[in-house]
Amino acid sequence: MPRPRVLSGVQPTGALHLGNWLGAIRNWVDLQDTHDTFVCVVDLHAITVPHDPAQLAGDTRSTAALYLACGMDPERCSVFIQSQIAAHSELCWLLNCVTPLNWLERMIQFKEKSVKQGDNVSVGLLDYPVLMAADILLYDADLVPVGEDQKQHLELARDIAQQRINARFGSEELPVLNVPKPLILKEGARVMSLTDGRSKMSKSDPNEGSRITLLDPPELITKKIKRAKTDPQMGLEFDNPERPETHNLLSLYAILSGQGREAAAAECAEMGWGTFKPLLAEATVAALEPIQARHRELMNDPAELDQVLDQGRQKAENVANATLERVRKSLGFSPRH
Ligand code: AMP
Ligand code: TRP
Repeated sequence: MPRPRVLSGVQPTGALHLGNWLGAIRNWVDLQDTHDTFVCVVDLHAITVPHDPAQLAGDTRSTAALYLACGMDPERCSVFIQSQIAAHSELCWLLNCVTPLNWLERMIQFKEKSVKQGDNVSVGLLDYPVLMAADILLYDADLVPVGEDQKQHLELARDIAQQRINARFGSEELPVLNVPKPLILKEGARVMSLTDGRSKMSKSDPNEGSRITLLDPPELITKKIKRAKTDPQMGLEFDNPERPETHNLLSLYAILSGQGREAAAAECAEMGWGTFKPLLAEATVAALEPIQARHRELMNDPAELDQVLDQGRQKAENVANATLERVRKSLGFSPRH
């Protein structure tokens, strides 16, 4: 039996934060033992909003290095850069031509991001979910581990595969595309902002104090946690809707200290903020320390990183090209020789 296939990716825009790690990347690391795993840096997605060309290549490499530093093992999975495999853009075009416009106009992330862009909304921003569908469908992915915010995009990818490609161009016995499922693990699926427990931690929040990035030095982590929003009540608890910040910080502590929800809830039930915050800072610094050390090593050894990315690209390209050929054929294009 072949192992189930996993594909996921993160954009190389700005430094990855605790939400990206706990909501997405950390889950990839566990999956590579049991699944055939592909993870890419989705740099084509990064230009759907205005970007700085001088920064793109460096951010892309740094993000790939973070995947490895977080524990992705190139011997057991494929780590690659989306734009290096032309099949992503090509399948995106083929899918564009069968995807109804109003499916895209409904996407929550598009609506949110387009408000921020004002008059400058690119066609690419609207098309973002179709490119994401191409990323996923090219690898016949069975599972796509993402944070909760990506669920709607996953449903779109499923609908495109099932209703717009398989139903029209395939047969029941011979579907053209594999229909993927989201994998959203509860713990860490939604890490909230440090300055507002009701909005998610995000790369695009203008306030840097709202997030902890995986590359923040220890002093900065401590400072951000010290300034994190709290409430006047003593004692920490989960799931009190009146205390979203408390829930978020305690959740982070439970995960980052490695002790889990019950033990963390018991330890902090009567604790004041002045005692809790240094504990959380210490747990965060300790959890990120090995990641930062490995990231530094990889960034100082460009040859090693190049070699890993090249190996990842070759493995990914074989799979992607085979799927693309299948779709081309089903749509009536003649084979490429
Ligand atoms: P993005 O930062 O939007 O490129 O997201 C990259 C990945 O991290 C996706 O799988 C997201 O679902 C996940 N993610 C982003 N922000 C958070 C968050 N605050 N909590 C949990 N997961 C997140
Ligand atoms: N849209 C995803 C996000 O913001 C990133 C992404 C692009 C992705 N392509 C993907 C995630 C394919 C999973 C699979 O998080």
